[in-house]
Amino acid sequence: MFSLKRIIMGLISLFAVIQLVPVNRTNPPEADPIVFKNPQAEALAKRACYSCHANTNSWDWYSYIAPVSWIYIDHVIVGRQKLNFSDIAATMANGGEGGEGMISRAHAEEEAAGGTTAGTQTNAGEIVDNIAETMQEGSMPPSYFYLTHRADATLTAAEQQILVDGVREALTGR
Ligand code: HEC
Repeated sequence: MFSLKRIIMGLISLFAVIQLVPVNRTNPPEADPIVFKNPQAEALAKRACYSCHANTNSWDWYSYIAPVSWIYIDHVIVGRQKLNFSDIAATMANGGEGGEGMISRAHAEEEAAGGTTAGTQTNAGEIVDNIAETMQEGSMPPSYFYLTHRADATLTAAEQQILVDGVREALTGR
């Protein structure tokens, strides 16, 4: 028979042990950072998006506590693959064969709709459209991000527009 005390002791030891699992909390060099012309757009992106979409993560306290850290670190890895403000070249290029990024998804959708896509200009447009879309539908930033970053994560419609316009201005003409 397991007593309640043994179960609790067991859970505490398990919690302690999982803290030892190595994790991949990295900030790789910024290979091709976006250059915002509008400082307000830059500040908004940094505040609401950079925790998962740039290589300059401040790695908040909860990123050190398993198992929350595992989920969060995984989201940063996937988030950077889809959209990385520290590596625009990779974000633009990741629509290639087997690409993991949002461009490949956008290409697939466009192909399904009978259209064709080519070139950096199109990719910039797709990135901007996806950013606008995810914020409008409320899927970005993800809802759990509001738990720890409510003030940073909350963008008014006007702020969303400034961010979208700022990214467009920075990406077009590259
Ligand atoms: C807490 C982490 C986190 C934050 C903060 C965050 N994202 Fe994301 N984002 C993700 C993850 C994880 C994915 C990939 C999974 C997905 O598509 O749902 C993603 C995917 C995306 C995509 C690609 C969607 C697609 O499938 O094509 C866009 C665009 C995006 N995010 C924009 C933003 C913008 C803009 C912000 C800031 C306003 C933001 N994100 C903030 C984690 C985050």
